[in-house]
Amino acid sequence: MPKFKHLVSLHALKPEQIHEILTLAARFKIELKQGKEHALLKQKTLAMIFEKPSTRTRVSFEVGMVQLGGHVINLRPDDIQMDGREPVSDIARTLSRMVQGIMLRTFAHETIERFAEFAEVPVINGLSDYEHPCQALADMLTLIEHFGHLDDIVLTYVGDGNNVAHSLMFAAAKVGLKLRVCTPKGYEPSRKALKALGTLKNKRRGIDIELLRDPRQAVAGAQVVYTDVWASMGQEAESAQRERDFRAYQVNAALLKHADPKCLVMHCLPAHRGLEITAAVIDGPQSIVFDQAENRLHAQKAVLALLMS
Ligand code: CP
Ligand code: NVA
Repeated sequence: MPKFKHLVSLHALKPEQIHEILTLAARFKIELKQGKEHALLKQKTLAMIFEKPSTRTRVSFEVGMVQLGGHVINLRPDDIQMDGREPVSDIARTLSRMVQGIMLRTFAHETIERFAEFAEVPVINGLSDYEHPCQALADMLTLIEHFGHLDDIVLTYVGDGNNVAHSLMFAAAKVGLKLRVCTPKGYEPSRKALKALGTLKNKRRGIDIELLRDPRQAVAGAQVVYTDVWASMGQEAESAQRERDFRAYQVNAALLKHADPKCLVMHCLPAHRGLEITAAVIDGPQSIVFDQAENRLHAQKAVLALLMS
């Protein structure tokens, strides 16, 4: 199987590469619980750059590197000043001489793409305004744990057609998940993502993605309902307008009555209880949000091992 060099977008990965990550992640998870150690990244360093806040991404990458025998350096944007003190291209080339991998969380997706263009070591997208590939990988692992497989599961994403939605779409197109993306008018997935996908339906390739408007219709028969914040990091000024525009898109008990009675509920976290999801639902028995959070660690360890060892 061809090795992938970076994890900038899930769209760039082949289905078998996604399955390779998920298989290794599941193995790492079992072996961690058995107390088995893997020093695959001994003496190796991952540089992390966060332009935005993070809990899960930061902790899972750091713990993952340590569990694989390596370590991380956290570079604050104020210190390195990308495209301020020096161009991104020079930072990418400099870091490549000293560390064995670079993880970035940026506002502009193009920043990560430019890093990957100039870096001589693997570059990992820890969230951009366009994609969140590590989250989608952890989500796929979580679905496999709950259903035993991915193909033909009906997952409805309700909310903003944002970075998380884009990565779910790219993942779904590769693994055969039936994905319904339900957004208010004006908040659909970006044209760029739709253009990259090329087709939303292709029976032969197992691509089955629908864009819908009515949340009740979208969740009908769904085995999984997924949501994310209405205003992503960087969109805080639009919060009030978005709260009005998304009001009918809250994941609550009334909406879930229209889904499969055993339907599972997912959220990438952090969540706003009372906005995109009610406390009763996210803290209720159908919620698997902390399985998703934990699986960030296992999925990313697989990515780190495949890219950096
Ligand atoms: N889901 C996720 O990426 O969480 P953080 O923003 O806390 O890293
Ligand atoms: N869409 C959210 C995801 C956070 C993990 C954001 O970009 O803020």
